[in-house]
Amino acid sequence: MIEVLSVTSEIYPLVKTGGLADVTGALPGALAPLGVSMRTLIPGYPAVTGRLETGRVVAEMPDFFDGAARLIAGRVGGLDLIVLDAPHLYERPGNPYLGPDGQNWEDNWKRFAALGFTAYELGRGLVDGYRPQVLHCHDWQAGLAPAYVAFNAPTPVKTVVTVHNIAFQGHFGWENFNALHLDFRAASEGAIEYFGGIGFLKAGLQCADALTTVSPTYAHEIRTAAYGMGLEGLLQNRANDLHGILNGIDTRTWDPARDEALAQTYSANSTHLRDVNRTALNERFELDDSAGPLFGVVSRLTWQKGMDMLVDCADGLVAMGGKLCVLGAGDPEVENGLMGAAMRHPGKVGFIQGYDEGLSHLVQGGADVMMVPSRFEPCGLTQLYGLRYGCVPLVSRVGGLADTVIDANEAAVEAGVATGVVFAPATEEALLEGIRRTVHLFAREKVWKKMQRRGMKSEVSWEASAKKYADLYANLLGLKRDDDQDD
Ligand code: ADP
Ligand code: GLC
Repeated sequence: MIEVLSVTSEIYPLVKTGGLADVTGALPGALAPLGVSMRTLIPGYPAVTGRLETGRVVAEMPDFFDGAARLIAGRVGGLDLIVLDAPHLYERPGNPYLGPDGQNWEDNWKRFAALGFTAYELGRGLVDGYRPQVLHCHDWQAGLAPAYVAFNAPTPVKTVVTVHNIAFQGHFGWENFNALHLDFRAASEGAIEYFGGIGFLKAGLQCADALTTVSPTYAHEIRTAAYGMGLEGLLQNRANDLHGILNGIDTRTWDPARDEALAQTYSANSTHLRDVNRTALNERFELDDSAGPLFGVVSRLTWQKGMDMLVDCADGLVAMGGKLCVLGAGDPEVENGLMGAAMRHPGKVGFIQGYDEGLSHLVQGGADVMMVPSRFEPCGLTQLYGLRYGCVPLVSRVGGLADTVIDANEAAVEAGVATGVVFAPATEEALLEGIRRTVHLFAREKVWKKMQRRGMKSEVSWEASAKKYADLYANLLGLKRDDDQDD
């Protein structure tokens, strides 16, 4: 059994702002049958401490980053957690990163340095009877852990950093260095220095034994200036240690045959039943029941996600006979744009502002098309949910979107392998053209049904990718896994 500690700032179903939580919530279960025991170190936000079903204090740290803290080992819904209970850092309402004013907490550097430091201490055997062999660190929030391992007192623990989104780098002022409890050599050797400040993600990418990102295409993209956001040089140097491992989805949480958030469950052989969900969706978004395709969006409303382009294409989409329902929150300008479109096109465009897990399932189960017009997309999960739910993805050809959707060009339609519509480049013109192609495909009923079914049968589970992570851990430890011959 390989012992891995996953280090993360989010985990579904306890605390989620995006796909990171879905991934960290699903990986432990996917790895368990592969001889990997994964526990998760997570900050003790109220949403976490309040949900612990069982809990045991396994370490007391009276003087910890300017306050008292303890570690609580416990379980929630099948997840094995180690909760960093540090009220002075985490006992705050709402979002894990932002205060009530919508701004980043100003001590985020300290809150997440504390997370990385604790991971390192656990790697050194802080808790009797528990000794992780690998620290699997997610995004910048866990980025300092490999730096502590590399520069503080030596420990044999191996480190992996997974980049879920290189746009978020955790860049803070150098004046915080002394409070990090990080050996001064980390400063002098430039490991954590980034543009004159401290770079949490940069530190992780520099110091970890292995690096991964969440799709093969994104693993290439982030080594280029167009997508690397300043870290491309470092990643080119570490290209041999960088692996693109595609995200999977939790096929129990996301199962149209069993989903309680749907008005009507269905499977690949009964897609006509989706009509019941479509009707429910029309009601929720106050749309009419005209026959054209219903385009759905479930997304953060940001530039990354191409949501400004979506706003600009809404009139065209309606003119082509489509309808649009958007569930999301984000940039005020995009929100206003969507409200405007809904007002201009009553019954045709609906916008629900906010975050609603249940409604996100209904969109997947009732809309005809799942739109993901991202400018960049490390992996993307909503197109995978779309595939599984027969909500045909319309996506831009970037990152994980390019790796997971097969475009319905005539050859692919002919061969019966198409699963969606892929457009490029990520511009408004190309998106409109993608919408046009989708509307035409939707009118070819047989072709559409076939594409829908094909998508529902695509492999979107964690099975293959969990094996890749298990192999990666084993390689780092110089071990051979028993079922390797299967690959
Ligand atoms: P990202 O992590 O970049 O936001 P992903 O596609 O990987 O993108 O994951 C987004 C996750 O968040 C999905 O599970 C999606 O269903 C969910 N999500 C996004 N916006 C909303 C919303 N407004 N309401 C409910 N779920 C949402
Ligand atoms: C990030 C990315 C998204 C990815 C998710 C989970 O939030 O933006 O593309 O699917 O992480 O890895």
